[in-house]
Amino acid sequence: MQARFSGWRESQAPTPARSFGLYETPTPTRITMKTIIEPFKIKVVEPIRMTNREERLGYLHAANYNVFKLRGDDVLLDLLTDSGTAAMSSEQWAGVMRGDEAYAGSPSFYRFEAAVKAIFGFEHVIPTHQGRAAERILFSTVCTPEHVVPNNTHFDTTRANIEATGARAVDLPVPEGLVPSSPGPFKGNMDVGKLEALISEVGAAAIPLCMLTVTNNTGGGQPVSMANVRAVSGVCRSHGIPLYIDACRFAENAYFIKLREEGYVGRSVREIVKELFSYADGCTMSAKKDGLANIGGFVATNDEALARQERDLLILTEGFPTYGGLAGRDLEAIAIGLEEVLHEDYLQYRLASVRYLGEHIARGGVPIVQPPGGHAIYIDAAAFLPHIPAQEFPGQSVVAELYVEGGIRGVEIGSVMFGRQDPETGEEHPAAMELVRLAMPRRVYTQSHVDFMVEAIVQVYERRERIGGFRLTYQAPTLRHFTAEFEPLYGIGS
Ligand code: F0G
Repeated sequence: MQARFSGWRESQAPTPARSFGLYETPTPTRITMKTIIEPFKIKVVEPIRMTNREERLGYLHAANYNVFKLRGDDVLLDLLTDSGTAAMSSEQWAGVMRGDEAYAGSPSFYRFEAAVKAIFGFEHVIPTHQGRAAERILFSTVCTPEHVVPNNTHFDTTRANIEATGARAVDLPVPEGLVPSSPGPFKGNMDVGKLEALISEVGAAAIPLCMLTVTNNTGGGQPVSMANVRAVSGVCRSHGIPLYIDACRFAENAYFIKLREEGYVGRSVREIVKELFSYADGCTMSAKKDGLANIGGFVATNDEALARQERDLLILTEGFPTYGGLAGRDLEAIAIGLEEVLHEDYLQYRLASVRYLGEHIARGGVPIVQPPGGHAIYIDAAAFLPHIPAQEFPGQSVVAELYVEGGIRGVEIGSVMFGRQDPETGEEHPAAMELVRLAMPRRVYTQSHVDFMVEAIVQVYERRERIGGFRLTYQAPTLRHFTAEFEPLYGIGS
């Protein structure tokens, strides 16, 4: 184990990126020590309610072994999501007090709009209550049932909002993006050849827009290179297809470009972001991620006619176009968060802390998706528990055992989430991969929290042979992972 409070030491292990000889140099310029510190100090604390193993076994049993049903204060370290879980800064809280709640034309809206325009460069900015609302506004305006929307990999709400219009959502990841153990600098990229093939197959007129998700959340939090954005944009422009970016983790993606892509090490993250979005015609954003806010989002575009239609729809379901379902105080918090997320000391700490978790559990033998992503570590549960068949949900076993061992809440991204039960035969059709995501909230946990996570995860790994699978006892017809109920086949916490 590392000594507590020893800092996120980059020097202790070569990063996977360095080992494939890219540009992951220890930036930024101002810090010359090996230890990367949290670039903030703590003004307000939120106590963690300590629990013991016995209590956690009881809570998990009462939750039918589904961690979505646990109460938040029964969790010690909550890695369920990095969405809406950030700690806001003192400046953001000051902004909350400044928030103006005028129904129309609030000064908070104009500060929000100016921040989004300055960073992303789009002409029309429409606030929404979160990312999926931005997706619904965009796709229900542009899609019809004849349409096809490609993406490197659609996030599940993106896919669902496209499919809700009757259109088809197509994933076009590069092949290495589907191999958990293979390291690569930009495994989030889109396969440009497959995009061209899709366009020739269905015709450009059937594609109302193309999307790129940065970073690629479903594909392991892996970044997309600038070269890939440029290439995808080139193909789209040559066919008159608008390109939209799913911008949730845009700053993390830009920092990966700075670290790994030739020609960007000397550029500021702000410049990289500007260039990246200059290749696009618009974006959707969940400000709950790289907006460093607890709620909010937006859809932005350069297309005036589309913006007009989107605003009309917004009024119907979200709110007037200068607040879009948010309070003025939320718009202030987002405007400030979008600036703070570009601070390179923050981004260096952010990526180092996630990588530290990944490298330390990998060193303890735990199989993970390589290299570590920007916001999360993905454990390969199929390799962790090779004796548990997909039909007995190895990812669910890892999630349950991590909770019992260390009060850690992760999320299964495998056959519980993406598998399907045949309604006729009851047979389970497994997902392509059995992953467990450990998503790190922003600015919330310190290094000793992460050292504790490492200790607990490695302890579970060491007793992996005594861990068994699960049986589903209840499932809803759609999105079953949220409400599913389970029974352990051979007991848990062995
Ligand atoms: N796009 C991506 C890539 C996302 O990761 C998410 C949310 C959304 C869109 C939707 O945004 O939640 O504000 O409506 N991801 C969260 C997660 C829920 O845990 O990965 P939202």
